[in-house]
Amino acid sequence: MTTHRLFPTLIYRAPLKAGSLARFNQTLLDEAHAMALDDHVGRRWSAKHYLGGYTSYGSLAQLHRLSSTFAALERAMAPHVKRFARELAYDMRGRALEMTDCWVNVMPARTVHSLHLHPLSFISGTYYVRTPPGSPALKFEDPRLSKMMAVPPRRAKAAKAMRSFVEFPVEAGTLILFESWLRHEVPPGEIDGERVSVSFNYAWRDLSADKIAIARRKRRA
Ligand code: NI
Repeated sequence: MTTHRLFPTLIYRAPLKAGSLARFNQTLLDEAHAMALDDHVGRRWSAKHYLGGYTSYGSLAQLHRLSSTFAALERAMAPHVKRFARELAYDMRGRALEMTDCWVNVMPARTVHSLHLHPLSFISGTYYVRTPPGSPALKFEDPRLSKMMAVPPRRAKAAKAMRSFVEFPVEAGTLILFESWLRHEVPPGEIDGERVSVSFNYAWRDLSADKIAIARRKRRA
């Protein structure tokens, strides 16, 4: 007898780079704090949607185009996202991955980010800048849960791959990537200090369409 396991959900976790990231993380942290002070639009947005914390999601959501520090983060992320797309077995020949959004999140104790997905994107993820003890995990939901209309509950000690929710502990200097359709949340936590992270979305682009546009421009010139 063989029981097959098909249609896996892949979640990628890795350190951003080898070696110490303390200085890089401190620079990201300083910029995040400066933004949290100066970004009035973002503070108003956060007061409505991100109670107790600050996120630049509603105001400054393309930080990789605004700040050289975040641009450096984008460069360090690139090989990871490429590797993940390859592991997912998508055919990336003639297709490029592109960071479309990049924003910062400052979460003091009890700030939550309820269950959501990232529409209009391909791969999403988060890089952790500061994670004091007690920082809440990133919690993923089984994407088939809404289809399970008549199933009994899972055993409390079911293997990780068989659970309906899986929590990934977060650690400064590491990143987590997932497909943008996978619902996830940050539950509340009792932490001393702030959990600071940078989140991002990636899209893919057809390079042959770019080539056609370049050829057209050349013809016109
Ligand atoms: Ni998210």
